[in-house]
Amino acid sequence: MLERAADLMEARRFELNALLILEAGKPWVEADGDISEAVDFCRFYAIEMRKLGKPVVTQSVPGERCVQTWTPRGVGVAIAPWNFPLAILAGLVVAPLVAGNCVIMKPAEQTTVIGATLMDILLESGVPAGALHFVPGFGEDVGAALVRNTNISFVAFTGSRNVGLKIWEEAGCTAPGQGSLKKVVCEMGGKNALIIDNDADLDEAIPAALYSAFGFAGQKCSALSRLIVLDEVYDTFVERFVAACGAIPVGDPAKPGTVVGPVIDADAQKKILGLIAQGKKEAKLAFQGSAPTDGYFIPPTIFVNVKPDHVIAREEIFGPVLAILRAKTLDEAFTLVNGSEYALTGGLFSRSPKALERAQNELLVGNLYLNRGITGAIVERHPFGGFKMSGGGTKAGGKGYLENFLFPRAIAENVMRRGFTPPEES
Ligand code: NAI
Ligand code: MG
Repeated sequence: MLERAADLMEARRFELNALLILEAGKPWVEADGDISEAVDFCRFYAIEMRKLGKPVVTQSVPGERCVQTWTPRGVGVAIAPWNFPLAILAGLVVAPLVAGNCVIMKPAEQTTVIGATLMDILLESGVPAGALHFVPGFGEDVGAALVRNTNISFVAFTGSRNVGLKIWEEAGCTAPGQGSLKKVVCEMGGKNALIIDNDADLDEAIPAALYSAFGFAGQKCSALSRLIVLDEVYDTFVERFVAACGAIPVGDPAKPGTVVGPVIDADAQKKILGLIAQGKKEAKLAFQGSAPTDGYFIPPTIFVNVKPDHVIAREEIFGPVLAILRAKTLDEAFTLVNGSEYALTGGLFSRSPKALERAQNELLVGNLYLNRGITGAIVERHPFGGFKMSGGGTKAGGKGYLENFLFPRAIAENVMRRGFTPPEES
């Protein structure tokens, strides 16, 4: 069924693209990537479940057959964000579904039409009535009520830290008569950093940093929001980087070529503008682009002289706003990266093998990217997810993800019997 759903999405690719552009404000290339990721989730989890479906021998001993198998957890709820309205929603729904659970799909209120379209696709691909339910609505009412319900045995959540922590807490309360402990798969925000080393190749680092910070108006959990530049290269880098930002196309996402479209809604716009005002108080505005005034647009904005204790260096800003910090040494840069409450994505541009090796050992983030941009994880190739206040350490699109929605069972059978009863006549 998942493979059929993937085929259906590919067949309806242009229509889905249009929906993603119109409902979520995604630029073309981002919309198409969202669809590819949804397709990949379906195909990858189908392959993984085929493997998991076979009992595994735990130990070979004479006289006893010892295996481990998996069994579904029950009924669960998938609660998704609006920023990957097809891919993340699909991943959160099809993983527990293919593992044999019943799933209640709760899309983000901002992208309900895309959620409904995914529901149609899954039904058309053969998901039986009753195994999957579509329950749109506002998170605080519908989402919260579903999480609280005592018949729910798991919650697959991706979204903000505030909501994630609430769900984590609520799911930990057991009510009398509740059948099982609620499992929570919880993926939250980030405050992602990229280090530019003194010997970095700036011709590569500048476009990579630019796209990581401002692609889809910075509305990715993986987006770059703290750019940490080493002392010797700082002035050259910042000058070239800011100049390059002036060339970012801002405007209507329905136009091909737009990189920065609007942010998702008026609430988001207001919140981001508030954080920009805060940034102006604590740091120095180095660049602010221009943007249309008729819509929820935020111009790409860059602050320099940002210090690690500034609000704009600590809080997730889900928009096209970048803080640039200066570090004297690589040690200091590493400390800055790890000083965050979040641990989602991070990266380093360097030409020193020693620095690259150190980064692998010392930069504590869920997804580390070396000499490349820090967004755009691909299913299976880059299992995605963070820890600390970014999540529980589960990896979407990674091996082992489906195990979150299953209980392991061990079976031991004495096979030293002296004969079997004859098979029953049918
Ligand atoms: P959000 O937390 O506002 O909403 C996420 C979902 O939770 C929505 O479906 C919403 O309706 C629901 N919800 C809201 N309040 C609820 C409650 N009290 N109980 C149950 N459900 C509730 O997040 P938003 O604005 O949709 O997405 C942006 C956030 O998601 C950012 O913080 C971003 O970093 C994070 N995110 C994390 C990812 C990751 O893989 N770690 C990937 C994509 C986004
Ligand atoms: Mg929200």
